[in-house]
Amino acid sequence: MSEGKRTNAIPPDTLATILESAVLAPSSHNTQPWRFEISETGVSLFADRLRALPVNDPDDRELTISCGCALFNLRVAAAHAGFNAHCALLPDPGDEDLLATVTFTPASGSEGRQSELFQAITRRRTYRKRFEPKQVPSNVLSILEESAETEGAWFQVLDSEHARHQVAELVAEGDAAQWSNPSWRRELAAWMHPRRKGDGLTVPGMVAPVAQLVVRTFDMGNGVGAKDRQLADESPVIAALGTAGDGVEDWLKAGQALERVLLRSLGQGLQASYLNQPIQVAVLRPKLQHLLGHSGFPQILLRLGFPATDLPAAPRRNLQEVVENSDARDIKAKQASRR
Ligand SMILES: Cc1cc2nc3c(=O)[nH]c(=O)nc-3n(C[C@H](O)[C@H](O)[C@H](O)COP(=O)(O)O)c2cc1C
Repeated sequence: MSEGKRTNAIPPDTLATILESAVLAPSSHNTQPWRFEISETGVSLFADRLRALPVNDPDDRELTISCGCALFNLRVAAAHAGFNAHCALLPDPGDEDLLATVTFTPASGSEGRQSELFQAITRRRTYRKRFEPKQVPSNVLSILEESAETEGAWFQVLDSEHARHQVAELVAEGDAAQWSNPSWRRELAAWMHPRRKGDGLTVPGMVAPVAQLVVRTFDMGNGVGAKDRQLADESPVIAALGTAGDGVEDWLKAGQALERVLLRSLGQGLQASYLNQPIQVAVLRPKLQHLLGHSGFPQILLRLGFPATDLPAAPRRNLQEVVENSDARDIKAKQASRR
């Protein structure tokens, strides 16, 4: 596209920075199931269903939530660069892969730059280790509740010991169900890669084939369940994030709410990881719903706390693999010149 015809308000290198932030979003099994197309007016976000997890996530619910997380990062990075991002969710009923279109207009003044959220994008990690044995103040939890509500979702902390313990039991039950299914184990093994692949769950190159073979072959549900039960039991906070409905638009909202909660958490020194098994295993989801006593649908179950150590960032694919169309060439050139 020539400069003369360009109506996209954002210069290409700024757009590259914004898209670099978008792809730092979390995604199930680190599949990064998104594609971006740059149009004359902005950016379109597509689901990349070649990266779906049909056993773990048969309805592409988590895939859509992951794309919602990327959309939230994109919005934050745009605001930080001085642009308002106007999002239309599911704008074309004839194209179910088109999840959102985003148009940009210059923002006036320096307010609303969302610096705290923006800084958190590169520092967020899925923290699967034990947290520091330190309470999370209740005002921080209120901030997280408000964050989810801002994006049209709810965030409910499980505060009684009894409820937390019951959730920990459901997590262990979910582990047992998932690991007993050879198709689920094969799918997990297929996403265990050496780091250089740029996606998936990182396993050192030397041991990757052995690790994949072990996961494919052995039902380790009891061991994993016991470990997850303990992690859940001793986590400073367990909380569910949910939505009123359970359709594609709700999942996109859940993703944006999740990422807002995660980035806000980081501003308070917290990291998080996932205990999604009771939502992923269909027969357990109503039990979790009952336990929460909240109307609507739990979409994500989180544990949160203060991290005991820093973790390296999980790998990401390069922008050229996820950005399409002619303007992407500008972005690729910018990205190459930064290396
Ligand atoms: C919708 C969704 C579901 C996820 N489910 C799990 C999960 O069940 N267990 C887990 O350990 N991590 C889960 N994750 C975290 C991803 O594995 C993680 O985001 C990915 O490996 C990239 O790492 P990072 O978050 O540190 O950047 C989930 C993430 C998303 C967005």
